Amino acid sequence: MPIPTPNYHPPFNITRASHVILTVKDLDASYNHYVEILGLIQTERTADTLYLRGIDERAHHSVVLRKSNAPGTVDRIGLRVFMDEDLDKAYAHFNEIGTPCRWVDVPFQGKTLHFEDPNGMPVELCARMDQAESLHDKFQHHRGGHPKAIDHFQMPCQNVTLATQFYAQLGFRISEYTDSDDESQLWGTWLQRKGNPHDIVFTAGKGPALHHFAMQSKDASTIMHITDVVGSMGLEDIIDRQPSRHGIGNAMFVYFRDPDGHRMEFYDAHYQMIDIDHEPIRWPLSNTKRSSIWGVPASRRWYFETSPFTGVERHQSEFPGEPMTLEKMFGS
Ligand SMILES: [Fe+2]
Repeated sequence: MPIPTPNYHPPFNITRASHVILTVKDLDASYNHYVEILGLIQTERTADTLYLRGIDERAHHSVVLRKSNAPGTVDRIGLRVFMDEDLDKAYAHFNEIGTPCRWVDVPFQGKTLHFEDPNGMPVELCARMDQAESLHDKFQHHRGGHPKAIDHFQMPCQNVTLATQFYAQLGFRISEYTDSDDESQLWGTWLQRKGNPHDIVFTAGKGPALHHFAMQSKDASTIMHITDVVGSMGLEDIIDRQPSRHGIGNAMFVYFRDPDGHRMEFYDAHYQMIDIDHEPIRWPLSNTKRSSIWGVPASRRWYFETSPFTGVERHQSEFPGEPMTLEKMFGS
C-alpha cells in the first residue's frame, strides 16, 4: 500500500516532541532512578510532582512524574508548536475535522491545548514554558547517561495507517517505515517535524500506549558507561534492552525501565532529514536489522510491555503477525 503523503503546508506549525507526563508510585524512588542514576536535572518538586529536564534544555520540564495511587500510566505526551497563534489555528482545525480538544491550565506552561488523536491517544500542545538554566556548559551537572534533551516517543496503536494519515496531515514527514513483506500493510512509521528521523513513532500493537520516550545522550561511549555503572551497582534489572545500534534511525541505544515500568531510551545521535527530496526508507518486518543492525532482535518483554494512557482503553492491533523476537529466534 502507498504510505501517506505529508501535508507540506499544514494548518498549524508543530515543531517537536516536547514532554511526557507519567504517573508514579513513589517520588523518592523516581528521583533516585531518573536523577541520581540516569542524570536528569530536577527543575522543580511540588508535593505530588517532579519536573525534570535534560542538561541542554532551557524548557522547565521534559519529563513530568506525577504521584498517583494507580501508577504506571501516562497522562499524555506533549508536542511544541512554534507560536501561540498556532494553538488558535490548531483549535480551529480540530473543531473543523471533529477531533476532540479543549483549553487547559497547566503549571509552568503557557496556553495549552489538549486533544485526542484518532486512536484515542491524549496529546497536549503548547508554545511556551517557564525557562530554566541551560547546563550544557556546566559540566559538573553532566552525570549518569548525560541526558541532553528529549527527542521522541514511540507508541503502539490499533491502526498505524490511521495514525500516520492524521499526523501526516499535520505536517509530519515519514523518515522510515516498516511494512509487511508483501507491502500490503503498514506495521510502523517514524514521523518527524524537527528535521531528524523522528519525533513520534507508531507501531502495530495493543494501544494506544507508550512504548518508550527517548533522550539523547552525549555519545556512544557514555551509553556504554552508564550501562556499565548500572550493572556494576547491581541494578542490571533496570536494563530493559542492552546496548546495540538500531537499523532504523541508525543510533546506538540502551533502554532502562523505571520503578513503575516506564521505559526510557538513551540514544547517541541521529541523521538530518530536511531536504524535500529525502525519500522515506522502507524496512520489511522480517528484516531483524531494522531493530538492531547487529541482527539480534529484542525480547518479547521489550516489544509487548508498555505503559497504558491514564483512563484510555487499549485495543488489539489490526496488523496480522508479530516482529521477530529474541525468544522466537533462539527458541526459549
Ligand atoms: Fe526510540
